[in-house]
Amino acid sequence: MLKIAVIGGDGTGPEVAREGLKVLAAAAKKEGFDYQSKDFDYGGERYLAQGGDPEKPGKPPINDAEIAELRQFDVIYLGAVGHPDVAPGILEKGLLLKLRFDLDQYINLRPVKLYPGVDCPLKDKGPEHVDFIVVRENTEDLYAGGGGFLRKGTPNEVATQEMIATRFGVERCLRYAFELTRKRNRKKMLTLVAKTNVLTFAHDLWWRAFNEIGEADYPDIKRDYNHVDACCMWFVKNPEYYDVIVTPNMFGDIITDLGAMIQGGMGIAAGGNINPAGVSMFEPIGGSAPKYTGQNVINPLAAIGAMAMLLQVVGDIKDDAKVARAGDRVEAAITKTCPKLKSMSAGRMGYSTTEVGDLVCQAL
Ligand code: IPM
Ligand code: MN
Repeated sequence: MLKIAVIGGDGTGPEVAREGLKVLAAAAKKEGFDYQSKDFDYGGERYLAQGGDPEKPGKPPINDAEIAELRQFDVIYLGAVGHPDVAPGILEKGLLLKLRFDLDQYINLRPVKLYPGVDCPLKDKGPEHVDFIVVRENTEDLYAGGGGFLRKGTPNEVATQEMIATRFGVERCLRYAFELTRKRNRKKMLTLVAKTNVLTFAHDLWWRAFNEIGEADYPDIKRDYNHVDACCMWFVKNPEYYDVIVTPNMFGDIITDLGAMIQGGMGIAAGGNINPAGVSMFEPIGGSAPKYTGQNVINPLAAIGAMAMLLQVVGDIKDDAKVARAGDRVEAAITKTCPKLKSMSAGRMGYSTTEVGDLVCQAL
């Protein structure tokens, strides 16, 4: 039976996660499978309640025994991380990134898909133009935490932040992306997004690995390359160009926020932190939106989309057709629901958070 750990998290996280779980319950009933879910209260409130320092990292927001418990589940469903009373970085690093790293969720999968009826800020672009997937490496690069200070606090201070690329980490990410491109079977084109003209060490490794692996094992996949700055330009000018993109962690972080905007905003953008052989974690990619907390106005579609991905990916990995079909069903229901909303933005949907969840359930 599918076992899901639910971390509602901070701000509007628990509200949107609740809608995702509501849709899951309805979809599981339609497909006829059972599952278990268990709630965990990790987040800013608990960190502060347990005496965590709001200013600097102290007590860990999640400890190793708690992570070990999460390993007993098939998958994690996350609402949001980020609390207004906790300094930036403490929860992000101590909870979100810790989970991604400790559970070795080395792929961050972020589809950029404009659903019908959703306003696109790009002139003359519709759902037929915005439909691609970003595969963001999720455990290395500037996120690995390498670096330090020298003479901190003095006028001669030196601070370094290291861009880490390992052949192992790059290769497993590239292979995942090649396989996905093959399976998706659209343009069969994989675009590496990097900055080989400046980052001549780390991205040279990416470039060589990309070509070696592609040539040896994926001759059917067209290899394409964009510098990251040019990629940002094409997202706006020609998004229909893309099929699958693979990119290092930091660039992936940045371009997927731009991607979220061209698919209609943070209210609709979902992502998955995937360890194909371990415990993955699915989340809406927007933040905790503290100012909307408890008002029943936040858009739950990103969280519901994350639930669709969870079911599709976990169904696939566990080879469980019912679960995977439930994921497709949820995605189709989102497609039917989008045109009913006036806007994807909080407070302007024409419906409340819970009503949008109900609309998706009805469309299943
Ligand atoms: C994201 C977020 C995180 C990231 C932050 C909160 C650490 O921006 O999921 O894209 O940089 O990966
Ligand atoms: Mn981000």
